[in-house]
Amino acid sequence: MSFLSILCFFLCFSSALSTNSEGNALHALRTRLSDPNNVLQSWDPTLVNPCTWFHVTCDTSNHVVRLDLGNSNVSGTLGPELGELKHLQYLELYRNNIGGKIPKELGNLDKLISMDLYGNKFEGKIPKSFANLKSLRFLRLNDNKLTGSIPRELTTLSNLKIFDVSHNDLCGTIPVDGPFASFPMESFANNRLNGPELKGLVSYDFGC
Ligand SMILES: *[C@@H]1O[C@H](CO)[C@@H](O)[C@H](O)[C@H]1NC(C)=O
Repeated sequence: MSFLSILCFFLCFSSALSTNSEGNALHALRTRLSDPNNVLQSWDPTLVNPCTWFHVTCDTSNHVVRLDLGNSNVSGTLGPELGELKHLQYLELYRNNIGGKIPKELGNLDKLISMDLYGNKFEGKIPKSFANLKSLRFLRLNDNKLTGSIPRELTTLSNLKIFDVSHNDLCGTIPVDGPFASFPMESFANNRLNGPELKGLVSYDFGC
């Protein structure tokens, strides 16, 4: 074997591996989901990348930028590997039967523009790590079974335009700082929330 072919073996192989880390992350997601309508049938992990899979969209560099599985009748849970989709801009998982906790690793997706998890069975807390999602404009978590208080860290998300946590089981008070100054009260309806927090009074987990 020539030096070049040995070099290519390492370089080409490692670059194929790194491209497919996103495919591996998506395939790990598939193994966690029950899929009675076979919407994930095209998700073949032996392909070089996941860019030809249905419900997955890539950019021109073959990085996954969208995952569109709204209204797909899938159930199961999400796992930490979703945090490896570093280029993801749209995470659309609305109106399914997905349960368990929302992985804190979703806070690694710092290119994310829209996260729609509404209409599922998610439980546990809203991860504080979502405060890292500085590009986020749309965050809809309504119609789940989320508990705990709304993390104050989310008030630093200056691009947030839509925030909906209605119809959960959240407690404490509603933040009033940053983008929260402009969200309508309907976004918080049907929880156990105590109303807007009073300026300067740290009472948000009172009764939580
Ligand atoms: C969703 O999946 C369930 C099985 O888990 C099935 O009984 C039902 O018909 C499916 N619904 C739709 C709208 O396809």
